[in-house]
Parts: sequence; structure tokens; C-alpha cells
Amino acid sequence: MRILVTGGAGYIGSHTLVELMARGHEVSVVDNHVNSSPVVLERVRELAGRPFESHVADVRDTGGLAAIARAFAPDAVIHFAGLKAVGESGERPVDYYDVNVGGTLSLLRAMEGAGCGRIIFSSSATVYGEPVYLPYDEDHPLAPVSVYGRTKLMAEQVLADWARAAPGTAAIVLRYFNPVGAHASGRIGEDPDGVPQNLMPYLAQVASGRRAALRILGDDYPTPDGTGVRDYIHVVDLARAHVAALDRAAVTAGAEVYNIGTGQGYSVKEMHAAFCRAVGRDLPFEIAPRRAGDIAEMRADCTRAARVLGWQARHGLSDMAQSLWNWQSRNPAGYRDRAEDPA
Ligand code: NAD
Ligand code: UFG
Repeated sequence: MRILVTGGAGYIGSHTLVELMARGHEVSVVDNHVNSSPVVLERVRELAGRPFESHVADVRDTGGLAAIARAFAPDAVIHFAGLKAVGESGERPVDYYDVNVGGTLSLLRAMEGAGCGRIIFSSSATVYGEPVYLPYDEDHPLAPVSVYGRTKLMAEQVLADWARAAPGTAAIVLRYFNPVGAHASGRIGEDPDGVPQNLMPYLAQVASGRRAALRILGDDYPTPDGTGVRDYIHVVDLARAHVAALDRAAVTAGAEVYNIGTGQGYSVKEMHAAFCRAVGRDLPFEIAPRRAGDIAEMRADCTRAARVLGWQARHGLSDMAQSLWNWQSRNPAGYRDRAEDPA
């Protein structure tokens, strides 16, 4: 298939490109590199062993996007492009709605012009909000607590209405749980700008000496060891879920939603211990206050993805930790030449 990939230079997008290329799909990437380096795409080309086109463009530029889509004539679009920092979303709500909701509308217009009616969308477990029950299934009530979460929910609603209105179109919404880890090659991985806001990238920078110690944000949650529990998923498994979603989009119509996780929850302390094992030494940590808006436990029911998409996660915790350390130790400064803000 011919796949237009927005945000393809990002963390999840780059890993998905590798899986798409390995299966013989033709891809075209659109990214404005607001949160990624163009170097990523060179590394993906190297891993794939063949070229693909890429465009530096903003998804909100409907005219530019429409021209790219018309020329490439995609069979489907995977829409990763978006802003994703939960804290920042509360400080810059207009930017977040503009990119995450406005960007999705702009993309749908561009797809219309190119006669493309299939889209896979990156949503998030954060649309569920405080759990009414666990694990979350796709019918769990939706009550996001952040601006970021609300932008994702709105984009989901836009896609559902779009797919309902135009016969034969398909929107597959993937609600990701917590992606971690990196490609086995160690050539691509997560490379946050500035101080990492997420657990595993932070821990990785503690191991490589850029940060002094992990701050465990709360050890008084109602969980077995008091620290927050999440459903971490290896990014390569997540990438494979997009391949399965494309196959599904080719044979279905309307909007469908799938949780993408492992179904297994691990605490912050368990993640810290697993990463210490991968690195081969103890990494310092301190207990700090809870982070506002954090939920004690999030875990996915992934039976729908297994049943309908034929997809399930293959990689366990040690693969997640080892692949992250492999990436971090080979690229201590990420895609840059050197770390700009050592601890
Ligand atoms: P990322 O920031 O690494 O990748 C997003 C990419 O989109 C970047 O390359 C960025 O430059 C690009 N982009 C941003 N705004 C753009 C715009 N206006 N026009 C064109 N390109 C633009 O993030 P990621 O972790 O790879 O996440 C991909 C998607 O998955 C996002 O939509 C994110 O909200 C969603 N998601 C991520 C997580 C997570 O924990 N990483 C969890 C749930 C959902
Ligand atoms: N944590 C720490 N120290 C840190 C960072 C995080 O102890 O320095 C803890 C958090 O309190 C939480 C756990 O580690 O208990 C995971 O936190 P992350 O920030 O890594 O992940 P979140 O679950 O908070 O959020 C992530 C993405 C969201 C997405 C959500 C989906 O950042 O965009 O997963 O589940 F919506």
C-alpha cells in the first residue's frame, strides 16, 4: 500500500516507518520537525535499505498538505503528528487544540482532495481519565483530565463523525498506553528535548550521566508498592499494531477504536529495578511528591485488538529495558552531536 505518514520523524512514527518498509509498503512522510530531527529519517532509510520521500511541512497547512497528498495518492494515512506534553498543554491550550484538532481537520480536507478515505489515528489512554474500573476497555467512560487528553478525544470525535458521513471511509483509532524502548539496532529511539517528562527517558538519562537521580513522583498511591502503575508497551510492538490497523482499514468501514498495550501493569519501582538490571548497576532515586493530575494505575484490556486486528504485544519488560539502554548508551546525546544540558 501507499501510506502517507504525518509525524513520521517522531518516536513512534520512526519505528512504524521501519515496520512499514519491511513489509513492502511505500511511504511518504510529512513532518515539520517541531519535535524531531531530520536525522531520524536518514537512519530509517538506512535501516530500511531503500529510499522514501519526505516533506518538511505543517499539517495545518492544508494547501501544502493537499498538494503532497494529491501527488503521492495514498491508499491510507497514519496520523502521528501532534503535540504531546501533558503539562505544556495546560499552558498553551490554543496551540494544542490548533495542532491536534485543527491539524486533524486539515488532514481530512487534504485526504478528500486526494480521494483517500482511510486513516489510522494516534490517540492515548489518557482519554479515559480516572478509572471507573480496571483494566480499561474501549467502552470505559471518557473523561480526560488534561487539555492534551481533551484534544485527543475531540480528534477522535471528529474522525468518528467523518467516517459516519462518508460511506466506505474508515478511521481506526489506536489508544496507546505507555510506549517505551527502542528498535533493536540502537539506531532509532526516543530523544526528548530538554528535561524528559516521562519516566523511562528520564531514567535512561540518569544511567548515561545526564541527570543525577530519578525522582519517583509519589510513593503513597493505593498500589502494591505505593508507586504509580502503568501498562508499558514496547515501541516496536506498538509500531506493528499500525501495520495490523492498516490491514483492518482496508477491509472495514466506519470508525473503530482499539486499546494498544500489553494488559500488564508495572510500578515505577518495578520499572526502575528492570532498568537497573539492563544497565547492570543500581541507579540513584529519591522519593518526591506526587505530580498533579497523575492517576494511580492505568492498565489496558487489549482483547479487542487481539480478536479483531490479530495483534498482540510480543516483547516483555526486559526487552523494553534492554532496548532502551542499547539506544541510550549508543546515542547518549540522542540525535544531537553532544548533550546540551548535562546534569
Ligand atoms: P513525537 O513528538 O516524537 O512525534 C510527533 C511528530 O509530529 C514529531 O516528529 C513532530 O515534529 C511532528 N509534528 C508535531 N506537530 C506537527 C505539525 N503541526 N505538523 C507536522 N508535524 C508535526 O511523539 P510520539 O511519542 O512519536 O507520538 C506520536 C503520536 O502519538 C502523537 O500524536 C502523540 O500525541 C501520540 N501518543 C504518544 C504517546 C507517548 O507516550 N509517546 C502516548 C499516547 C499517544
Ligand atoms: N514518574 C516518575 N518520575 C518521573 C516521571 C514519571 O516517578 O520523572 C512516574 C509517574 O508519576 C507515573 C509513571 O512514572 O506514575 C509514568 O509516568 P510517565 O510520565 O512516563 O507516563 P504517564 O502515564 O504519566 O503519561 C504517558 C504520556 C501521555 C499519555 C499517557 C498514556 O506522557 O502522553 O502516557 O497512558 F497520555
